[in-house]
Amino acid sequence: MGRRIAILLSGRGSNFLAIYENILRGKLDADICAVISDRSKAPGLLKAKELGLPSFFVSFKDRAKGEEETARIIEERGADLICLAGFMRILSANFVRRFKGKILNIHPSLLPSFPGLDAQKQAFEYGVKYSGCTVHFVDEGVDSGPIVKQAIVKVFDDDTPQKLAERILREEHKIYSEAIKLVLDNQYVIEGRRVLFKKK
Ligand code: GAR
Repeated sequence: MGRRIAILLSGRGSNFLAIYENILRGKLDADICAVISDRSKAPGLLKAKELGLPSFFVSFKDRAKGEEETARIIEERGADLICLAGFMRILSANFVRRFKGKILNIHPSLLPSFPGLDAQKQAFEYGVKYSGCTVHFVDEGVDSGPIVKQAIVKVFDDDTPQKLAERILREEHKIYSEAIKLVLDNQYVIEGRRVLFKKK
């Protein structure tokens, strides 16, 4: 069984870097076989280049072409798992079906609350007392696939959306690698929507 992961990102890339560092520290046994971005100047993509990782800019001006090129790279590089790490595009049903059960995403809220953009700000403005982050399988909906892992973050009275987002991000950096490990180790079964640990 291979342990190759492809990372798709659009921006800063801190989740990508956390995964990279967890691999270096021996906390996650995997190889990053491709870092793909829909933005040529995404800081995460530039960082991947600096680190000497196989890095690819793919234009999504035409979504179908962008997805086809992305799929080609993923298949050529032999990725076992695709990790969306701040990839700010919705993938088509076709793409999701092609890689069924092989795409993970991280989202900065306790799904199913606050899907979509600016989840931390949505949670803050709603007035929840707890928020957090979620790693889930990607299905054909938006932020709607089976949940692999979540972490809870308390919202304080003197919080700001920015401060809350920073604390959520610290949890994202932990649980994404843990979720990837769980999936790569094939330690789970899916029953309905529930992702359960396999009994040993
Ligand atoms: C992260 O907070 C991630 O959860 C969020 O974008 C940020 C990317 O940061 N993703 C979404 O909102 C997806 N719906 P990063 O580029 O530093 O990893």
